[in-house]
Amino acid sequence: MQTSTATVISLSILFLLSLSTTVNGHNITRILAKHPNFSTFNHYLTITRLANEINRRQTITVCAVDNAAMSSLIAKGLSLQTMKNVLSLHVFADYFGSKKLHQVTKGSTSTATMYQATGEAPGTAGYVHITDAKGGKVRFTPEDNPSQTDTVYVKSILEMPYNISVIQISAVLQSPEAEAPTAAPDLNLTSLLQRDGCQSFYDLLTSSGAIGTFLSSVDGGVTVFCPGDDAVAAFAPKYKNLTAPEKTSLLLYHGVPVYNSMGMLRSSNGLMNTLATEGAKKKYDFTVQNAGNDVTLKTKVVTATIIGTVTDDEPIAIYTIDKVLMPREIFKGVVEADEPAPAPKAAKKKKAVAKKKGNTTEDDAEAPGPDSSDDYSDDDAADQTASGGGRWLPATVVMTFCFSWLVFI
Ligand SMILES: *[C@@H]1O[C@H](CO)[C@@H](O)[C@H](O)[C@H]1NC(C)=O
Ligand SMILES: *[C@@H]1O[C@H](CO)[C@@H](O)[C@H](O)[C@H]1NC(C)=O
Ligand SMILES: *[C@@H]1O[C@H](CO)[C@@H](O)[C@H](O)[C@H]1NC(C)=O
Ligand SMILES: *[C@@H]1O[C@H](CO)[C@@H](O)[C@H](O)[C@H]1NC(C)=O
Ligand SMILES: *[C@@H]1O[C@H](CO)[C@@H](O)[C@H](O)[C@H]1NC(C)=O
Ligand SMILES: *[C@@H]1O[C@H](CO)[C@@H](O)[C@H](O)[C@H]1NC(C)=O
Repeated sequence: MQTSTATVISLSILFLLSLSTTVNGHNITRILAKHPNFSTFNHYLTITRLANEINRRQTITVCAVDNAAMSSLIAKGLSLQTMKNVLSLHVFADYFGSKKLHQVTKGSTSTATMYQATGEAPGTAGYVHITDAKGGKVRFTPEDNPSQTDTVYVKSILEMPYNISVIQISAVLQSPEAEAPTAAPDLNLTSLLQRDGCQSFYDLLTSSGAIGTFLSSVDGGVTVFCPGDDAVAAFAPKYKNLTAPEKTSLLLYHGVPVYNSMGMLRSSNGLMNTLATEGAKKKYDFTVQNAGNDVTLKTKVVTATIIGTVTDDEPIAIYTIDKVLMPREIFKGVVEADEPAPAPKAAKKKKAVAKKKGNTTEDDAEAPGPDSSDDYSDDDAADQTASGGGRWLPATVVMTFCFSWLVFI
């Protein structure tokens, strides 16, 4: 009973979190669907998953090419991953409406594209020059292909200043770097986590069973912040002292049930929920902050810095960090006061989604029991009261702390 409630609730929360990723509300697929001349371009944005990335961006310009122009690109027979690189060169990380394009300072500017932001582009290959040429023409030239000077602005398809601009350009931007063959991304989380620097963390995930929650999150997107082997070693004495549920929560705290590209992390500041989050009382969140290219993760107890990227290919991102993230919920023993839980309406739908997604795993059973929170439905709240699961865990945590403290003294 308690286990299934916990599962339903955690899955419901995952569902809510995944919904909240499209904050801006623009939908490039829908925008382009109104224009049959761009159906091929639109199709490739979808199958390369670039559409998701575009929808998540706050400020963006999409340079669409029509079906005729796309056919020459398709004729090259590029792999999907290479196609993604080429098309990501057509997405600028800045807003360029028609007016701004025709008023480029000093007649020329260089803009970073999503190809640059993914980190796939070597050097500055992910930049595109925009030139306001004579006769009102605006030219687009990839940084690594200066000879392409005949690709021009055709028309504006949609302008939503300063969120999204969709324009038509006359031809595909050709970049030797973007078109270079790329290996298909490895989407096997198990093998990815065993790559350089993450092995110790992976071992903890498997020994605790927390790996199951990570694996079941892959489909909806997942970001893993993997403390490097040194960080895990340095943390070992503290880790040993945790109870099994605390270990699980600590490990789940290093996963986010949403894919976050490096570009997204660098352009976002704010709270991030984790796989350990269970509503208002077990927030298990941390703050993402960036300065320049550095991204830090701040809990109330520790600040870690991202020091490497193991993989950044939707739907999986894995970054190495220099410290184990210590949640306040475990390391300060802070238990927030009970808040009344207003019942949201979407209970039935959430349950249906939870059912569809699935199965109860060992680590779900081990994870801390549910607490009352804003996110819970009537049914769930009733279940909790019946099982009393929510009341017990904080008490257990506090008692464990008191106990360790006594032993320590
Ligand atoms: C965007 O629009 C398409 C077509 O209308 C739809 O299938 C898709 O679910 C939408 N995506 C999001 C994130 O709303
Ligand atoms: C669609 O493409 C055709 C052929 O390139 C062109 O004649 C037509 O004007 C385009 N339609 C729109 C709405 O851009
Ligand atoms: C741009 O996005 C913000 C929220 O991110 C929204 O408040 C604003 O209305 C949007 N602008 C337009 C023109 O849609
Ligand atoms: C994923 O990788 C692990 C370890 O390398 C391997 O045992 C497993 O079979 C792989 N799974 C799939 C679906 O390829
Ligand atoms: C772990 O607990 C033991 C005894 O409970 C205590 O002596 C030790 O200092 C603790 N270690 C850490 C790193 O908290
Ligand atoms: C969960 O999956 C296992 C095997 O993968 C299966 O035996 C079990 O019946 C499933 N449980 C539920 C509740 O679906």
